Amino acid sequence: MAGPGLGKLQEWRRSTSAWQLRWKVVTRGCSLTSSTMVYYVRFLKSPRIQKHKADSISVSALICLTTDLGDSFLADDVDLAVTLVVDRTNTVLQQRTIRWQAGKRELGISLGPFRPPPSNQAVVLGIGAAGGSTSRSSRPHRQADNLLDRGGVPPVISGWSTPFGGSQPALAEKLVERRFSLQNQPDLRVWEETGNSIARHIWDAALASVICLQRATGGRAPAMPFLQGLLQTKNSNPLNVVELGAGCGIVGIALAELRPRCSVLLTDLPEVHEIVARNIASASPARKSVIDFRTLDWDAEYPEAVCSGEIDLILISDCTYNADSVPSLVRVLDVLVQGSPDAVVLVALKRRHESEAVFFDLMDAAAFGTLDRDTVPLPSSCAGEDPPVENIEVYAFGRRGRTHGGLRPQEKRSHSP
Ligand SMILES: C[S@@+](CC[C@H](N)C(=O)[O-])C[C@H]1O[C@@H](n2cnc3c(N)ncnc32)[C@H](O)[C@@H]1O
Repeated sequence: MAGPGLGKLQEWRRSTSAWQLRWKVVTRGCSLTSSTMVYYVRFLKSPRIQKHKADSISVSALICLTTDLGDSFLADDVDLAVTLVVDRTNTVLQQRTIRWQAGKRELGISLGPFRPPPSNQAVVLGIGAAGGSTSRSSRPHRQADNLLDRGGVPPVISGWSTPFGGSQPALAEKLVERRFSLQNQPDLRVWEETGNSIARHIWDAALASVICLQRATGGRAPAMPFLQGLLQTKNSNPLNVVELGAGCGIVGIALAELRPRCSVLLTDLPEVHEIVARNIASASPARKSVIDFRTLDWDAEYPEAVCSGEIDLILISDCTYNADSVPSLVRVLDVLVQGSPDAVVLVALKRRHESEAVFFDLMDAAAFGTLDRDTVPLPSSCAGEDPPVENIEVYAFGRRGRTHGGLRPQEKRSHSP
């Protein structure tokens, strides 16, 4: 693949729609698009402040609740808490609950008129699920989503704007911030673009990776003993981590925030540089952890050394969707692991297409076997049905014959569905 351009995205959407249609049939009318997806609050029109006479202002925005792929909208009613806070102090200026109605493709947000904050301060608009997915609860919106609350990915991922008004421009930037609470750590905060770029936003598999890393660093990952051993027993040792196809960088940044003495190198195509630099700049790494970025194109001639020293862990999240690019991805992995034979490769994927199975065949041919395997459920709200099965699959791979911890005999071959 030359790069994840819009043409590729459209082609991918077409094949995904066909795949979803098949799923709708096998799930006996329980619509996949409304029951087993994560929905992200996205700004279709960035928040804007309007000044009125008599020293009052109002705030407006246009949002939607859509999937990571942006191909379907939440088909359930859900109450959303809309919160306007003063930038930096987080003082709540305005809060109200509005309803996203099934069948809608967009929702206008309007707050005010009200008195502006003192001292010309900028404001930030946050929108997230108010309470239960269909209740009329007006419970205030939490400041961050919790990825460990339900044992899986939450159904609605909140969004926060850039600061606007006051000393900032009246219109917020075309960005949205995701905020996740991490155990015993400051919140994980990651910016993504509001547009259609594949690379510059967050994908469901990334959320599953963060969940697994959080469990493993906290010693609560019984299904991933190798990963847990790597992250825990070496807790006082430096850990060298490389992420391939990092996108906004959420997975590698989360690990650097969760694990001390972790050196994380995020890699991707040049087009992510701006958003990833922003996220690195606002990250809060754990003690002695560092985060860096460099360009690494799997299709380009392979650079001699990606990073200095042996790599302990390679992170890959939602990078196997395109069968055309999988051979070069596995080739890069193969080269990296030649120099670091004990490296663990953590791969999270959401199967969108049968052709993704080629990844497992190529990993097997490159002598990678499965060390750990886990699944992270996507939210399910399909009343009256058994929960439709759609999970993010998470694998820890290792090269066969690695010296630190072997492969279980029955798991020598990497997994197909
Ligand atoms: C679906 S996104 C996943 C992003 C991120 N890992 C996540 O889960 O949120 C796939 C990523 O793979 C990257 N990618 C695709 N082809 C690539 C290539 N040839 N070399 C490097 N990165 C590539 C894209 O730029 C994009 O960031």
